[in-house]
Amino acid sequence: MTVSSAPGKVYLFGEHAVVYGEPAVPCAIERRATVSVTVRDDDHVRVEASDLSLDGFTVEYAGSTDDRPDVNVPAGLVEAAMGYIDAAVEQARDAADAPDAGFDITVESEIPLGAGLGSSAAVTVAGIDAATRELGTTLPAEAIADRAYHAESAVQKGEASRADTFCSAVGGAVRVEGDDCRRIDAPDLPIVVGFDGGAGDTGELVSGVRALKERYGFAADTVEAIGDIVRTGERLLDSDPEADVDEAARIAEVGDLMNFNHGLLESLGVSSRSLDSMVWAAREAGAHGAKLTGAGGGGCIVALDPTPETLTALRFTPGCEEAFRAELATDGVRRLE
Ligand code: MEV
Repeated sequence: MTVSSAPGKVYLFGEHAVVYGEPAVPCAIERRATVSVTVRDDDHVRVEASDLSLDGFTVEYAGSTDDRPDVNVPAGLVEAAMGYIDAAVEQARDAADAPDAGFDITVESEIPLGAGLGSSAAVTVAGIDAATRELGTTLPAEAIADRAYHAESAVQKGEASRADTFCSAVGGAVRVEGDDCRRIDAPDLPIVVGFDGGAGDTGELVSGVRALKERYGFAADTVEAIGDIVRTGERLLDSDPEADVDEAARIAEVGDLMNFNHGLLESLGVSSRSLDSMVWAAREAGAHGAKLTGAGGGGCIVALDPTPETLTALRFTPGCEEAFRAELATDGVRRLE
C-alpha cells in the first residue's frame, strides 16, 4: 500500500481571472487530503471515501473509468469528486504505462468538498502520487502538478487553471500565470477561514463568469482589474524581509487589496449572501481584509487577522458553520507510507 497526502489552499488573490491568463496567488494550508492506494491483481478499481460526503460511499467497477456505473454514488458533489478520482486513475495508468492496472483506493479528507479550499486538487494530486508510486514510478512534484492539471481540466471541461493543482503539489505560497508556475516567498500571514457549510459548482461558476465577460466589455475589464490587484499584491508579498518595511503596514495593505478583490468577484456574480456576511463580519471584527476564496457560490472566506477577534466574530455569525485559523503548509504532496 502507498499513502500520499496533499494540502488544500486559499486564494489570497486572483481566482477566476487566472482562468483567462491573469496571475493568481494561492497559498497552501495545513488541511490535507490523504489517499491510500493498493495495486490489485485484476483491472478493477474500488474507491472508498468515508468523509467526502456525510454518509461516505464505496464504488467498485472493472476496467476503464469511462465504464464506471453511477450506482451507489450519490449525485452532485460526490459524483464530481469521483470524476477527479477517475481522472487521477487514468493519469497514473498513463504515467506508469500500465493501462490495465487496478487499484483499491481509500480517500480521507480534512477539506470540505467544493468549498473553495482546493479539495478536488488535493485529492487528485495525492491520488496521482500514491497510484504512480504504487506502480513503481516516482514523479517530481511539478510532473504530478502537470498531470493533476490535465485531470482537473478534463473534469471541468477545459475550464481550469494550473493554480489549485500546482499549489497543492508544491506547497507554500505560489504565483501562477498561464503555464508559468512558481513558489514565492510570503510573510507569515495570520489567515482565518470561515466556512458556511455549503459549496459551489466550480464548472457552473466559471461558465457564468465567461458568459458575463463575453456579454459585457466591462466584465472583461473587471477580470483585468483583478490581474492588476494580483500584480500589486505579489510585489507587496515578495518585498525583501530585510528591507525597512513595517510588517503590520504591509499586512494591512495586503488586506486592503483582498477587500478590493472580493468586491470585483462579487460584481462578477460569484459571491453569495453567506459569503458576504462572513466577509463583513470579519471586517467589522477588525480583520485587515477578507474575501471569498476559490470558485465561490458558497463555501469559504479567507481573512487576515493576528488577533482572536475575527475567529470569535465568525463563530457567532449566522450562516457561518465553522471558523478556524489556517497555518501555511510549506510541504506540498508527500508520501506518508
Ligand atoms: C477554483 O478553485 C479556482 C478557479 O479560478 C478555477 C480555476 O482556477 O481552475 C475559479
